[in-house]
Amino acid sequence: MPEISETGLSKDEIETPALLIDLDALERNINKMADYFSKVEASLRPHAKTHKTPIIAHKQIKVGAIGVCCQKLSEAEVMVASGIDDVLITNEVVNPSKIKRLVSLSKHGRIIVAVDDLEIAKATSETAVKTGVKQDVVIEVNVGLNRCGVEPGKPTVEFAKKLLKLKGLNLVGLLGYEGSFFNISDFEERKKAANARNKLLIETRDLLEDAGITVEIVSAGATGTYNITGEYPGITEIEAGSYVFMDTTYTRLAGLDFEYALTLLTTVISRPALERAVVDAGLKEVTKEFGMPQVKDVEGATLQSLSEEHGTLRLEKTVDLKIGDKIELIPSHCCTTVNLHDKYYCLRDGVVEAVWNIAARGKIR
Ligand SMILES: Cc1ncc(COP(=O)(O)O)c(C=O)c1O
Repeated sequence: MPEISETGLSKDEIETPALLIDLDALERNINKMADYFSKVEASLRPHAKTHKTPIIAHKQIKVGAIGVCCQKLSEAEVMVASGIDDVLITNEVVNPSKIKRLVSLSKHGRIIVAVDDLEIAKATSETAVKTGVKQDVVIEVNVGLNRCGVEPGKPTVEFAKKLLKLKGLNLVGLLGYEGSFFNISDFEERKKAANARNKLLIETRDLLEDAGITVEIVSAGATGTYNITGEYPGITEIEAGSYVFMDTTYTRLAGLDFEYALTLLTTVISRPALERAVVDAGLKEVTKEFGMPQVKDVEGATLQSLSEEHGTLRLEKTVDLKIGDKIELIPSHCCTTVNLHDKYYCLRDGVVEAVWNIAARGKIR
């Protein structure tokens, strides 16, 4: 079957469910963040786990981002294949076969990976030596998220000293993601919480430098803390991801004025009762771990439940919706919703300007 071009379709003509990007909003978000980072000392290395799409990463880099972050090695492979040559994997790579892929990828760009375990560091070093590369690593420091990471302070210094003895590794710094703080809307409170963690990271950097260890990179930050951690002295780069699209969870945080650029277009497939409409999108098309998605621009309509393939809306009696009408949902979590889709329909002035493959969708290894 020949591919039928979807470029030029109006929003109403797109088959649903379909993930939409509002290109004007996306570009404003990218430019607003770039503008901020042109004025502070820290740099932006946006997290590509959000969009999983090389063209968006290239747009971010074009206006100043120093590279991208990835969460998974296979995401990094997609980014490198698209010509991006500076990638920080903000996660541990542990399987022996993955370590081989990692060091091989380092032949094609600067790939920096997080480590928090000596045995894995040794295995990575040995594989790097065999492959003929020096593998850049950052030590992941547990600044309070209690996920991965070496404890801050002395344990990190002791670990760093051991890493320096490994011939295949090049220790370039620290990764201390402090968390997104979705639960702290107030800016000053969020600042206090984030900076308590940033302080631990910078104190640890100081101890490393006192021990004569050079620290080039100190990476932290998220969309919810970009203008907090981004101004914390000593932090060199920020890992914000969601700002490109935003979602209803992030818009609850005060002090974040990015726009919604991602919606899910759905169609009303059933109108069984005056107060109920059903759309053709459920859990296989939009996620709800952060709460129900929001109905866009339909006063009196709320999404009540999601099953696998159905979204059930509760309507006030005045809402006039017919079978076939199109409804947009604003995700509550953009990153996990994106991973459910193969492509974005990118709209400007209500017309599809481009269709982009979400090339790293499902790249979980
Ligand atoms: C390691 C890491 N860095 C940064 C982020 C921030 O991403 P976002 O800006 O989408 O909250 C996350 C979020 O999960 C993360 O896990």
